[in-house]
Amino acid sequence: MTDRKAQLIVDGIDEPIELPVYSGTEGPDVIDVRALSGKGLFTYDPGFVSTAACESKITYIDGDKGILLHRGYPIEQLAEKSDYLEVCYLLLNGELPTPEQKAKFVDLVMHHTMVHEQITYFFRGFRRDAHPMAIMVACVGALSAFYHDSLDISEPYHREVCAFRLIAKMPTLAAMCYKYSIGQPFMYPRNNLTYADNFLHMMFGTPCEDYRPSPVLARAMDRIFLLHADHEQNASTSTVRLAGSSGANPFACIASGIAALWGPAHGGANEAVLAMLQEIGDESRIPEFVKRAKDPDDSFRLMGFGHRVYHNFDPRATVMKASCDEVLKELGKENEPLLKIAKRLEQIALEDDYFIKRKLYPNVDFYSGIILKAIGIPTNMFTVIFAVSRTIGWISHWSEFHSSPNRIGRPRQLYTGSRQRDYPE
Ligand code: CMC
Repeated sequence: MTDRKAQLIVDGIDEPIELPVYSGTEGPDVIDVRALSGKGLFTYDPGFVSTAACESKITYIDGDKGILLHRGYPIEQLAEKSDYLEVCYLLLNGELPTPEQKAKFVDLVMHHTMVHEQITYFFRGFRRDAHPMAIMVACVGALSAFYHDSLDISEPYHREVCAFRLIAKMPTLAAMCYKYSIGQPFMYPRNNLTYADNFLHMMFGTPCEDYRPSPVLARAMDRIFLLHADHEQNASTSTVRLAGSSGANPFACIASGIAALWGPAHGGANEAVLAMLQEIGDESRIPEFVKRAKDPDDSFRLMGFGHRVYHNFDPRATVMKASCDEVLKELGKENEPLLKIAKRLEQIALEDDYFIKRKLYPNVDFYSGIILKAIGIPTNMFTVIFAVSRTIGWISHWSEFHSSPNRIGRPRQLYTGSRQRDYPE
């Protein structure tokens, strides 16, 4: 890729160690440190702050400039001109589809939406108040027990079928979690609806009554899916890649991604944002919470603020904020108290030295929860919706990993435990 080299001088090693330097199409150069283990050295980078774990062609983020590109296309343009399933095609295949390719892709996804009837029995084993993410981890992992015909991961066609199955069945499982929690019958998918309409139908329709969402709500739902579709090597995607590197089947790998997403520092933040706004309860209490967020002795953080990669506005948050205004207007909820608190909190935090110095801006989750709540989706389903959306990112990265020469992921460590010692006589 390049003739550039870095030289590493290490006390106790006579010769400087030469390491190749690679340039990508965008972003910082990377130093190839693979030769170090042969010299008895490892690099140390907890949290992977300075480590490129793989080469990828799918998504690029410039966190300082607030840029997010999928296969080169800016997220703002995709949010305005494209839709979720088209972005799925783009992420998976590398190029935007022709109208014919898109129609075929949509048709294929929408004809894999049903889950095996036997899966309904899994649900009965859960308490009605189980967290839906717990059910999703279990049910998505369990899909590998149903689709034995597509588990040869060395076969590109099998990998493709798994991708279709996962993209198609995630909304069905997600809606089943909700229906189970409220004691309503599961709604079968309707393949003639759009992806977002079908999800809303399975969530809010009943056998007694159809649910017909307004185009504004369906569009907002599609946008939420689209804006969460991929985000390069985040914790859950890296988890999926690592699980995939052992040769585990894709359903098991995506289940591991769902588990990693669940935490409040990652996908669980959208649920946590809403809980925080509800706890604040009134604009007058915002300074108290901002004070707590700044206190190094208090573990409280402003949820929906900050990002490992973005040190500028999260471009997804900007689109989400506009979508939020649109949805609340459509529903006549412009004066929604939580939105007022959110807007005021954002303003106060953005003017505060603590947040300015640390470049902490609202992230995608700051506004998505308000939209989801307005649509009528309960808070504990927010992270599930993130998981539905992110499935395409996970499966695209998993596919990319398996489409080129690869080896099992195996990080090393700086060992600081006891030296070898003898068991007492
Ligand atoms: N509120 C208050 N202080 C914060 C916050 C926050 N939300 N986020 C970071 N900080 C402070 C942190 O205390 C530290 O201060 P100091 O330098 O004085 O010790 C500094 O900013 C750097 O923080 P960090 O923890 O080293 O940053 P990180 O890159 O390891 O963590 C993060 C990134 C997203 C986990 C973190 O900003 C956070 O916990 N945010 C709240 C949770 C959240 O909204 N997560 C959703 C991320 S976007 C969706 C997704 O992609 O999953």
